[in-house]
Amino acid sequence: MPPETAFPPSWVAIIRTRPRAGRSRQKASYGLNKPNDNIDHIDSDSAIGSDHSAASTSITSSVFNYKYENGRRYHSFREGEYMLPNDEREQNRMDLHHHIFRLSLGGQLTRAPIPQDVQRVLDLGTGTGIWAIDFADEYPNAIVIGNDLSPIQPAWVPANCKFIVDDAESDWIYRPEEAFDYIHGRSLGGSIRDWDRLYRQIYQNLKPGGWLEMQEYEVWIRSEDDPELLNAPVIAQWQELVDKASIMFGKRLNIAESVKQRFIDAGFEDVRDDVYKVPIGTWPLDPKLKVLGLYQREQICDCVESVTLALLTRVLKWSNEETQVLIAKVRSDLRNKKQHLHSTFHFVYGRKPTSTG
Ligand SMILES: C[S@@+](CC[C@H](N)C(=O)[O-])C[C@H]1O[C@@H](n2cnc3c(N)ncnc32)[C@H](O)[C@@H]1O
Repeated sequence: MPPETAFPPSWVAIIRTRPRAGRSRQKASYGLNKPNDNIDHIDSDSAIGSDHSAASTSITSSVFNYKYENGRRYHSFREGEYMLPNDEREQNRMDLHHHIFRLSLGGQLTRAPIPQDVQRVLDLGTGTGIWAIDFADEYPNAIVIGNDLSPIQPAWVPANCKFIVDDAESDWIYRPEEAFDYIHGRSLGGSIRDWDRLYRQIYQNLKPGGWLEMQEYEVWIRSEDDPELLNAPVIAQWQELVDKASIMFGKRLNIAESVKQRFIDAGFEDVRDDVYKVPIGTWPLDPKLKVLGLYQREQICDCVESVTLALLTRVLKWSNEETQVLIAKVRSDLRNKKQHLHSTFHFVYGRKPTSTG
């Protein structure tokens, strides 16, 4: 039996604590936004006082019954709905990616011009919760809720931060008085089947004048001196394959360039799409970009397996061995010092009009 499942769920939540030095932390309460489940109680302390949604209950143990496949661990709530793993390796990758996003923004967490006294904040598909935790620390007046299919967030979090196991594509059941001032989502390509419906629910659950921000990266890797990636042919092949498989699965990965139009179609105002190029590898001369490129190369080398394994084996019916060979070749292209590759990050934000309800 894999080690994590050998412990009762309540132990798992405690063992997986990842406190950060020098900051006050309070034990988190998990909620499951699914009232009819059988409930295994873990922790009844609310991290944010009486602010529980009426529909939020304690977590069920079944969400910890992770699925193991080809050496990686996958979520169990809404099993099969998300193609990337949720194990320690993937959590470390997500945390590194968070660092890269922050470095790209000169240390900031957001591009939207939200006020320092922002009140209610929702982080969709929060992952390890690292963005939500940092946000709660930096905006102490805010109540920050992070939701995810996987209960992989640390147990000790700021008192104004709470995590919910939830499918962002389910009906949102927040009361009108629980509307948000700011909703954030990052790296959600591959997570959502019906974007129009998600944007409708976001719009309905924002206060008038509230901000939405989506931070997405293009799965497409680019090179300005080799636009067709002739010197990185396996990367080019891999991109086509994962894009095709994600479309067949119904949750496309490469959606970053379409985000701005979706904001506009959903009724948001003052929509901006701030585009940042992030180098892959140490090829830039600028020392800061060199470090950023080093992190991004390592992050992508890890991400290649996370993104590819389930999509190719489950959807395109490749064997694990065939998929691993492709992954190794992509990594080799990524590490080729002659390449000048970069990723493209989109920070899209817009405001719900103040005049509508
Ligand atoms: C690529 S990770 C990004 C995590 C986090 N937003 C970050 O940037 O650090 C995508 C996350 O979305 C979660 N996810 C996928 N589909 C989801 C859904 N339908 N509802 C809620 N969370 C979802 C996954 O479990 C995963 O943790």
